[in-house]
Amino acid sequence: MTTSTAPGKIYLFGEHAVVYGEPAVPCAIDLRARVHATQRDDDRVRLSASDLSLDGFTIEYDGDQNARPDINVPENLVSAAVGYVNGAIHQARDLAGGSDTGLELTIESDIPLGAGLGSSAAVTVAAIDAVARELGATPDAETVAERAFQVEAAVQDGEASRADTFCSAMGGAVRVEGTDCRRLGEPDLPFVLGYDGGAGDTGQLVAGVRQLRETYDFADTTIGVIGDLVERGERALDDGDLDEIGRLMNFNHGLLVALGVSSRTLDDMVWAARDAGALGAKLTGAGGRGCIVALAEAADVATALEHTPVCERAFEASLTPDGLQQE
Ligand code: PMV
Repeated sequence: MTTSTAPGKIYLFGEHAVVYGEPAVPCAIDLRARVHATQRDDDRVRLSASDLSLDGFTIEYDGDQNARPDINVPENLVSAAVGYVNGAIHQARDLAGGSDTGLELTIESDIPLGAGLGSSAAVTVAAIDAVARELGATPDAETVAERAFQVEAAVQDGEASRADTFCSAMGGAVRVEGTDCRRLGEPDLPFVLGYDGGAGDTGQLVAGVRQLRETYDFADTTIGVIGDLVERGERALDDGDLDEIGRLMNFNHGLLVALGVSSRTLDDMVWAARDAGALGAKLTGAGGRGCIVALAEAADVATALEHTPVCERAFEASLTPDGLQQE
């Protein structure tokens, strides 16, 4: 059996704008997905997901993707999960020279699904690595990141940036601008996350921004302003200036509100975190529903979020330098 793990991420700055070639800075956080892969004697694939913030499921199929688990969870979440895992198996088999050996895969994840924390990227990165190694290949993290991006782009109909997959494979803070992906370092950033218990539809939210941009010049300008803000954010990260990072996170959230991707629940949590003394707070990822990230040391911020009616769960997280790893 081979086991690989990869972290989730938050966006410090730049989601959505990154889809149009602006830079973004995601940071890996210490919530991880773990994939165990074992070869089988036949050519079938059996997938068990024990903890994906779903009820958990097991499914056995022969690669035609028609098999579906018999459980009561939203069909779109299950088919997305199966799509990512199928894509990962395909990429890993290719890395291992085209093997069609059957596989037993078990996925465990601390990362809530569809909440803006990069759960699909983490599962895809860990699955490609675990399966490739189980089949005898030894890909480096950059190769796995690129293969994982190909999977995300296919499952998300081409509407994906390299941000999530590169960040999950490399760990730390990274900068992504189009195909240019770089690791920035491992600043010590304390985060508090607020989760409304829901999941945003990334495809729909990205399509909404695209439409707004086609209709209004100033939506396109807003996307450019997010890019300028990211450049400043990078300098603040370099200087270790947490106050400035917080101010820029607030500014970035305002621009995401203008692009129509926030919601009442996300805004309520952002304001609760700010009122409790966070240096800055913003939604993270596609938006709609899911998580906000606050830059805050204070336990007060987690407590304030826990007392915010729309917040289902608040938890502390910190930036992790550890990207893709084998166990
Ligand atoms: O919500 P997530 O973690 O899937 O992040 C989506 C981020 C977007 O910029 C909106 C899309 C992308 O692929 O970069």
